[in-house]
Amino acid sequence: MPCPSRSDELVFFVNGRKVIERNADPEVTLLSFLRKNLRLTGTKYACGRGGCGACTVMVSKRDPTSQEIRHFSVTACLVPICSLYGAAVTTVEGVGSIKTRLHPVQERIAKSHGTQCGFCTPGMVMSMYTLLRNHPQPSEEQLLEALAGNLCRCTGYRPILASGKTFCLESNGCQQKGTGKCCLDLGENDSSSLGRKSDICTELFVKEEFQPLDPTQELIFPPELLRMAEDPEKRTLTFHGERVTWISPGTFKDLLELKAKHPEAPLILGNTSLGPAMRSKGHFHPILLSPARISELNVVSKTNDGLTIGAGCSLAHVKDILAERVSELPEEKTQTYRALLKHLKSLAGQQIRNMASLGGHIISRHSYSDLNPILAVGNTTLNLTSEEGTRRIPLSEHFLAGLASADLKPEEILESVYIPHSQKWEFVSAFRQAQCQHNALPDVNAGMRVLFKEGTDIIEDLSITYGGVGAATVSAHKSCQQLLGRQWDELMLDEACRRLLDEVSLPGWAPGGRVEFKRTLVVSFFFKFYLQVLQELKKLIKPFPVPNSRHYPEISDRFLSALEDFPGTVPQGVQRYQSVDSHQPLQDPVGRPVMHLSGLKHATGEAEFCDDIPMVDKELHMALVTSTRAYAKIISIDLSKALEIPGVVDVITAKDIPGTNGTEDDKLLAVDEVLCVGQIICAVVAETDVQAKRAIEKIKITYEELEPIIFTIEDAIKHNSFLCPEKKLEQGNIEEAFEKVDQIVEGEVHVGGQEHFYMETQRVLVIPKTEDKELDIYVSTQDPAHVQKTVSSTLHIPINRITCHVKRVGGGFGGKIGRPAVFGAIAAVGALKTGHPIRLVLDREDDMLITGGRHPLFGKYKVGFMNNGRIKALDIECFINGGCTLDDSELVTEFLILKLENAYKIRNLRFRGRACLTNLPSNTAFRGFGFPQGTLVTESCITAVAAKCGLPPEKIREKNMYQTVDKTIYKQAFNPESLIRCWNECLDTSSFHNRRMQVEEFNKKNYWKKRGIAVIPMKFSVGFAATSYHQAAALVHIYTDGSVLVTHGGNELGQGIHTKMLQVASRELKIPMSYLHICETSTATVPNTIATAASIGADTNGRAVQNACQILLKRLEPIIKKNPEGTWEEWIEAAFEQRISLSATGYFRGYKAFMDWEKGEGDPFPYYVYGAACSEVEIDCLTGAHKKIRTDIVMDACCSLNPAIDIGQIEGAFIQGMGLYTTEELKYSPEGVLYSRGPDEYKIPTISDVPEEFNVSLLPSSQTPLTIYSSKGLGESGMFLGSSVFFAITDAVAAARKERDIAEDFTVKSPATPEWVRMACADRFTEMIPRDDPKTFKPWSITVA
Ligand SMILES: Cc1cc2nc3c(=O)[nH]c(=O)nc-3n(C[C@H](O)[C@H](O)[C@H](O)COP(=O)(O)OP(=O)(O)OC[C@H]3O[C@@H](n4cnc5c(N)ncnc54)[C@H](O)[C@@H]3O)c2cc1C
Ligand code: FES
Ligand code: FES
Repeated sequence: MPCPSRSDELVFFVNGRKVIERNADPEVTLLSFLRKNLRLTGTKYACGRGGCGACTVMVSKRDPTSQEIRHFSVTACLVPICSLYGAAVTTVEGVGSIKTRLHPVQERIAKSHGTQCGFCTPGMVMSMYTLLRNHPQPSEEQLLEALAGNLCRCTGYRPILASGKTFCLESNGCQQKGTGKCCLDLGENDSSSLGRKSDICTELFVKEEFQPLDPTQELIFPPELLRMAEDPEKRTLTFHGERVTWISPGTFKDLLELKAKHPEAPLILGNTSLGPAMRSKGHFHPILLSPARISELNVVSKTNDGLTIGAGCSLAHVKDILAERVSELPEEKTQTYRALLKHLKSLAGQQIRNMASLGGHIISRHSYSDLNPILAVGNTTLNLTSEEGTRRIPLSEHFLAGLASADLKPEEILESVYIPHSQKWEFVSAFRQAQCQHNALPDVNAGMRVLFKEGTDIIEDLSITYGGVGAATVSAHKSCQQLLGRQWDELMLDEACRRLLDEVSLPGWAPGGRVEFKRTLVVSFFFKFYLQVLQELKKLIKPFPVPNSRHYPEISDRFLSALEDFPGTVPQGVQRYQSVDSHQPLQDPVGRPVMHLSGLKHATGEAEFCDDIPMVDKELHMALVTSTRAYAKIISIDLSKALEIPGVVDVITAKDIPGTNGTEDDKLLAVDEVLCVGQIICAVVAETDVQAKRAIEKIKITYEELEPIIFTIEDAIKHNSFLCPEKKLEQGNIEEAFEKVDQIVEGEVHVGGQEHFYMETQRVLVIPKTEDKELDIYVSTQDPAHVQKTVSSTLHIPINRITCHVKRVGGGFGGKIGRPAVFGAIAAVGALKTGHPIRLVLDREDDMLITGGRHPLFGKYKVGFMNNGRIKALDIECFINGGCTLDDSELVTEFLILKLENAYKIRNLRFRGRACLTNLPSNTAFRGFGFPQGTLVTESCITAVAAKCGLPPEKIREKNMYQTVDKTIYKQAFNPESLIRCWNECLDTSSFHNRRMQVEEFNKKNYWKKRGIAVIPMKFSVGFAATSYHQAAALVHIYTDGSVLVTHGGNELGQGIHTKMLQVASRELKIPMSYLHICETSTATVPNTIATAASIGADTNGRAVQNACQILLKRLEPIIKKNPEGTWEEWIEAAFEQRISLSATGYFRGYKAFMDWEKGEGDPFPYYVYGAACSEVEIDCLTGAHKKIRTDIVMDACCSLNPAIDIGQIEGAFIQGMGLYTTEELKYSPEGVLYSRGPDEYKIPTISDVPEEFNVSLLPSSQTPLTIYSSKGLGESGMFLGSSVFFAITDAVAAARKERDIAEDFTVKSPATPEWVRMACADRFTEMIPRDDPKTFKPWSITVA
């Protein structure tokens, strides 16, 4: 059939408005179209791979079969606009707006405090909104499922869920029982002071204030699209782009004709496989065939012996179809369907399941495919069609291996998939283990099926396939054949395991790594299958006694725990805080749970982030070229091919820098040497971002490798490669003390690094002005003054010509302190050279590659103690992997050493720390600044002491904790009263001692599942160790209408600093918050600011705002005195008339802080935050998976400025800490290339990772006279409390090891991934796997800590 040379018109609707695109480019995604063409910037870019949900929108279509309008959530970054013909798209802007009408979803997420930085919020809103369009009163499980594909790095998810739960039909949440109270709530079940006190609040929002959901108010499906759907266009539609042509036939016949004509052209369905491959693997297809309008591919037919599902059906639809069949048919017929359903629940997020097709899934044949292993064992057949006719092929091992003889011919398409019913005496199961339970690609998965000779346990047929253990799904065909005719017993199990390990062999260097873990899973899964089938056989045999029936091996109750998977449970919990004094005026907002100032704007997408700023005149885009070598000389850079690309304007190299190119050791742009993979060498400037990115591929750089190349701490120590001198603190006489103790233990702790994974990647817009070399810089940073200074020195322009603006930052966590200055300076060089505004937006991949993160740590300890658990001497030496430049590594080492003692008073101490110089991207500041890594060493020590003394770790903690007013190792005096209160409250509120006994009971009864519980105390020092870093300034203007503009030196990162500042100003000026406004942070209004970091931003800037307001109020006093009954407006008018200045600068000189490292003494921190957390987990010893049963946190916030914000900070930091210690694993190649460059490979916690019960309490009646209104900064401290989950996991692992009589200690390694847990719970299966000699091969990845 002819393919017209002219493009057709692409017609679809966005937010009720018709879009006609005459030149639709198949390479343009809906995300880019919305943001750039329609200027709908509420939909965000955060990963571009469908893995984070920030770009979620709703697509509505009329279903040709049911004729109903269906609504789907999709990730716009993977939706080509050409696929939208005839569809209606709803974005966050179409849902509601603060200018018109807020939608209840938007109102509730904001008022429930479900937004912090707000970058993920539009995506969350859209996922919830789509759910409500389909189910106006969803269940909590549906809510959890709808949100599982959306990542949030700030909130810890609890408040987002809380907002969604307000729509749910019936909630299990205690607070939702209608009374507003809960069994955990006041009084009941709780003897702590938190439980008893009457001024303790448990509500952070008032549900009754919410407007109801009214489905009749929603946008209707456009009538024009309805008409189009009723009379579908049969014509082939063609869209020609610059490089790619999209052909969408209207009939099946045309599709087959086109496939015959373009056999190489892929069919594009959900684009969830093709899209990411085109984006990151450079796959290119000049023609794409879209069968979206072919109804034949969506036919579903049920027969007596099976189910035929059209290849075009989405995985979400397949899930519904299977669920329906399972409810209709007897259990024995639905074994395969149930196995598929199990995996469909955890396969990706809802958005991907809505987009991805069954056909696309099968044909992609990803080695990790969750469905293919089950389909293969379930005897699925593929119905293929071409112009030549139809034929059927089995979805066999040969098909999965891609053998030409068993595959589709190029001109064939997969029309449908036939999945037969299972039968009696047949059992099918599915297994999978991933880094986390949901929304993570599996490490290994499996489908297993066995058929018995009727009435016996003799194996008649057996099939087993595995995913994740090779380049494709692998069948263990040979092993299965050899087991035919065998009885289902222990002997068969042993033989099967041996054969499976032999057949499914995985080399030590296998891509993806985790080789021994994967081998173990191969047999562990089979063991689970063995037990499951044994149970079923018993059930079958009982009602039908069979002649010659044999006695089945009994499964002891203790072993039954191997059978169950962890169910997805909707988290519940209570948040407790002290209410404000009853005498506090109502108008005074301090201490109340005031909503984030930008909350509503976050929820409507109207909050403007850096890249949402509209395109400016003559704007150009920049893309960065980075080193592919870890340590090499740059021999040449050939730019010629890049400059030939249309649209490319220039390439910026070090030679273009008029001023200084960074420092000698830390260059902005590499000159003649590169120090790590990912170091920036040059930058392309082009008219569009697409052109710039294409051009960087064309730049040829030749290198000459240098030596030695160092990646690991071990190598750095060997080569004496350090960034700075050793930092050391010492007290008492450690050597002498070691001589007098009962026991000494030595150990090692390895803590992996962490990626910030702020949802908004690094971005900057530099606008050169026409006069006096002035520049305006809009940048996502925690430290605009540093950007300003760096740009000034790079361009050799005085600082006063450069203005940096920060409206808000989409998450920083320390990652936007130093790096934004580098990007700002490079973009500024581009702006200066070209004379154009420059926009630089980092891809997620580049961001992760270039920016570095938390320092990996290796710690060695030696601890001396008495048999009663009293620690007498502790010697810790830590090494952190600093990467290739100094950055903050020296400071991190100092903080690490200063904070290492945590909550313990140990008389004889020696702490030493060094920062290693390696050829990795430079690591930098990260929430907690060394404390979360270092203190894991200290707490591991305590656990080791407990094990040796045969006492529970909490006893050792208690015994060694500070008890009275005392001095730290650096001789700073402090009072630990609140620490002890937090600890005791935490033990009480969590019913720790009872639960410890229950855990032990559980462990006695269960062999394959173990529980662990841990309670961890915390003393976290707040602030910088230098007085000058605590200074802050503010500028407050009162305008003649009485409105007030507040500016201060802090940046809004999501932590609610602006909200808190207005609460302060409101109290000081005694006016409602509605009079007050903050526009942005700007270097032009408040100069020489300090980075917003170290948990002290609200504290110091609050003092400055307070100071400015007090100055203003003092000036107004005579006027107020004269007219005490007057209004604020009248007073301001009078003041203006009397020529009283209505503008004031506030200043805070800073808390005294210093540290003398020579003497090892000082007062480095203004104050401490105390806290304690108790967590309980359950682990699956066979897979390494864990579930978090409960966490209780008690934190000493003193008089919280805003309990909603502070509880949000604690929860968010805790969940981020939990990620650090359990799932977030950075993998590097032996050449120093970071593999983990997106949400697929790097797993931050998702909503399903939140503890099933998650309670947070702020310690009541606590005061600190030093700070503003006696509040405390809580930005970072919660991070370390995440380690309670880590220690609960290791507690469970220790229980398993004890039962298995494993004598030797295990090396403490964070994160405690499923791999670590599984391998630590050694058993007959781990013993059975082949082990490799590491010297005989090059591993896929290396450990850098
Ligand atoms: C964020 C994310 C998370 C994921 N998580 C998981 C997971 O946990 N587990 C898992 O198993 N998978 C996962 N996947 C993979 C996903 O299941 C597949 O990408 C998806 O099923 C492919 O379907 P599609 O319709 O999008 O295929 P497309 O990308 O549209 O097409 C893929 C290929 O299939 C071919 N094709 C499609 N239909 C036909 C047909 N009818 N006849 C012939 N050829 C055809 C195309 O030519 C193309 O080559 C994930 C993907 C993403 C993006
Ligand atoms: S940006 Fe689309 S899913 Fe992350
Ligand atoms: S609020 Fe969710 S990412 Fe910041």
